[in-house]
Amino acid sequence: TDIEKGTYPHFMLKEIEEQPFVMRNIITKYKDEHDNIKLDENVRNAVTAADRIYIIAAGTSYHSGLVGKELIEKIANIPVETHIASEFLYNMPLLSKKPLFIFISQSGETADLRGVLVNAKNMGHPSLTITNVPGSTLSRESDYTLHTYAGPEIAVASTKAYTAQMAVMAILAVDAARAGGVTIEFDPLQELAIVANAMEIFTNQKEEMEEVARNYLSVSRNCFFIGRSMDYHVCLEGALKLKEISYIQAEGFAGGELKHGTIALIEEGTPVIGLATQKGVSLNIRGNMKEVVARGANPCFISMEGCEHEEDKIVMPKVHEYLTPLVSVIPMQLISYYAALHRGCDVDKPRNLAKSVTVE
Ligand code: G6P
Repeated sequence: TDIEKGTYPHFMLKEIEEQPFVMRNIITKYKDEHDNIKLDENVRNAVTAADRIYIIAAGTSYHSGLVGKELIEKIANIPVETHIASEFLYNMPLLSKKPLFIFISQSGETADLRGVLVNAKNMGHPSLTITNVPGSTLSRESDYTLHTYAGPEIAVASTKAYTAQMAVMAILAVDAARAGGVTIEFDPLQELAIVANAMEIFTNQKEEMEEVARNYLSVSRNCFFIGRSMDYHVCLEGALKLKEISYIQAEGFAGGELKHGTIALIEEGTPVIGLATQKGVSLNIRGNMKEVVARGANPCFISMEGCEHEEDKIVMPKVHEYLTPLVSVIPMQLISYYAALHRGCDVDKPRNLAKSVTVE
């Protein structure tokens, strides 16, 4: 069954490899008999009625929420703010007149999110939970639920739930756009099928990812991930994965911010993983990499066909620019996995962490 490891040494590796299947599952669940998007009409109405969306999440789900904001704003033209649940609890921003709260949670049990949901309900605001566990607390207590259909996620470090959340938000964004009369060429169901194939290419290249982990991370104390725009959000997630399971101090940075402080930390041999999948900023991030290399950094570029350079270590197949995070995160997940493995860490149950945090 889904909650057994089978021949896999760890749940995390199994769950990383399941991602192409999860994508195909999501496509099936969100497609009607005419190959159009199938989505609960009440959810659609709630999204199109909102003048602003507040995405509330924690951890990895917060990182998918950052991408979700971009998707909903760019595709559906609705303003979105993404907030860390625990901060929002006591430091709420000024709300718009007709807000919609979207809670993103793999488990649907995170206490900080529930705290915000209780407040939102007391204020009379509508709420939607995007979760992997439809019977969970957040799902039961919010007005609407969208299921991420990733199957049980057992490893503490979240992988397939993250990509599933972003896939569902892409579908939600297009559905809302069309309902709001926005013409949009981007067909998320078709594009997610391309994403699934691209993911598979990486999950079949595990030796190369292990090699990168060995070459860059076997002795280093720290590691930086740099990117711009969408890539920046994925860098935050790549850094979180690495620190969670390998205990290497890792940070994700927006390329342009490096020179405002972080570049002081670069020493001879410091690994810097750069992400360059967004054509518009690809040259800028390459410029940032030159700056750190000039200070001794050991550079590793992950790029995409169409904006790749000869020296790039990992080049992902071309996918739609909106969906690059779903694919570019896979090498980061695998590199973190192998880095943790090489260091003898307990990959599925890292120290000090819990799968779901049910206390505020
Ligand atoms: C814990 C887990 C993380 C997860 C976060 C949010 O900290 O260790 O992997 O991202 O909770 O969990 P949720 O279930 O709300 O997505």
